[in-house]
Amino acid sequence: MLSAIALHEVAGSDARLRDALRAADLPTDDIEDDGRAFFEAVSGDGQTIGYSGLERCDGDYLLRSVVVLPTHRGHGLGQAIVEATLRNVGSGGDIFLATTSATSFFSSIGFSEVPRAEVPAAVLATRQLSSICPSSATIMKRNRPLT
Ligand SMILES: CC(C)(COP(=O)(O)OP(=O)(O)OC[C@H]1O[C@@H](n2cnc3c(N)ncnc32)[C@H](O)[C@@H]1OP(=O)(O)O)[C@@H](O)C(=O)NCCC(=O)NCCS
Repeated sequence: MLSAIALHEVAGSDARLRDALRAADLPTDDIEDDGRAFFEAVSGDGQTIGYSGLERCDGDYLLRSVVVLPTHRGHGLGQAIVEATLRNVGSGGDIFLATTSATSFFSSIGFSEVPRAEVPAAVLATRQLSSICPSSATIMKRNRPLT
């Protein structure tokens, strides 16, 4: 069973969001640009346990900025944050992400690697994929519905 968490939207300028992303070596250069939504994940007892983000790419979405604070890792909270975040996505459209370090994690929760040639132009044009993430980043796509 997934852990009970609540997501609260936060601005890209949120200092604690920026600190958490920096500490996890995730991109922060574009987090104040338009077209992104970021979420703080809070546990049932009110602790901040991580963050996530969504970026609209025409009809598709880039899932980004997924981080579980170090002391909370390994308890299923990463999966819970991803599932809760994707509930903010409307029907239709595919979910993509780019990662340099968490391919196994995302594979275990229903994402598969896709070749860049099969990634929509609007996703490839995001700053994450076009300039911030190295060209060696793995691009993944959600391949099953929400649990
Ligand atoms: C990746 C990250 C979000 C995972 O969070 P987490 O709460 O520790 O993960 P969970 O406990 O929900 O793990 C879910 C599954 O993934 C597996 N998993 C978690 N981290 C993993 C990793 N780094 N490598 C391989 N598998 C991993 C778990 O074993 C678990 O599998 P299981 O259900 O079969 O046991 C967390 O380690 C993190 O914040 N890392 C730094 C930031 C980052 O790399 N973000 C991704 C790029 S956007």
